[in-house]
Amino acid sequence: MENIMEFLEGRRTYRRFKQTPVPESTVKNIIEAARCASCGGNRQALKYVVAQKAEDVRAINSLVRWAAYLPAEEGTPKEDEIPVLFVAVLVDTEISQNADTDAGIAISTMTTAAWADGVGSCIMGAIDRPKIMEYMKIPETFKLHSMLAFGYPSHKSKTVPMQDGNCKYYLDENRDYCVPKRAAEEIVRFL
Ligand SMILES: Cc1cc2nc3c(=O)[nH]c(=O)nc-3n(C[C@H](O)[C@H](O)[C@H](O)COP(=O)(O)O)c2cc1C
Repeated sequence: MENIMEFLEGRRTYRRFKQTPVPESTVKNIIEAARCASCGGNRQALKYVVAQKAEDVRAINSLVRWAAYLPAEEGTPKEDEIPVLFVAVLVDTEISQNADTDAGIAISTMTTAAWADGVGSCIMGAIDRPKIMEYMKIPETFKLHSMLAFGYPSHKSKTVPMQDGNCKYYLDENRDYCVPKRAAEEIVRFL
């Protein structure tokens, strides 16, 4: 296995995908990673809905918003670039009302498990929750926390040093993503 820091540098957000299905074994790993993730009080309030049929993926893709910092023609995947799999992350409010930290941990673990198989992802919060809930027939006792988009990336993405506090990602001349990150000195202080 490559160096863990190289692995984590590659585990970025991806927004254009090859139209190659994600194998069942990887889907299983993603769900298994979520199932065993740490969570407050070990309550396990998170539930998931997986969509991988082409018509479902297309329908859900029309209910999410891609790359707010880019014009749609640059940031929104074209028909032949959309993800091949969506996972809805749900909070079962009969178990817990607030599971935001649990969701963050589960999402991070799931996207990392996917990346171990070369499958890229995009965590999506800018989503039409009512319409996705209706489409997926999710009961009202659940909150739709976020959607995860998955697929084999058809572009690259790398971090770049942040300039003048500008956190907006952009595309380079190859249409690959460049993601500005703050310098270590800016985010940490050692006592
Ligand atoms: C909570 C959360 C919500 C996000 N929502 C969206 C979204 O709705 N649409 C999108 O294209 N990207 C979304 N992203 C991806 C972020 O834009 C991305 O993580 C950020 O630009 C940094 O890029 P990186 O993940 O490669 O470090 C979201 C990420 C997080 C963590």
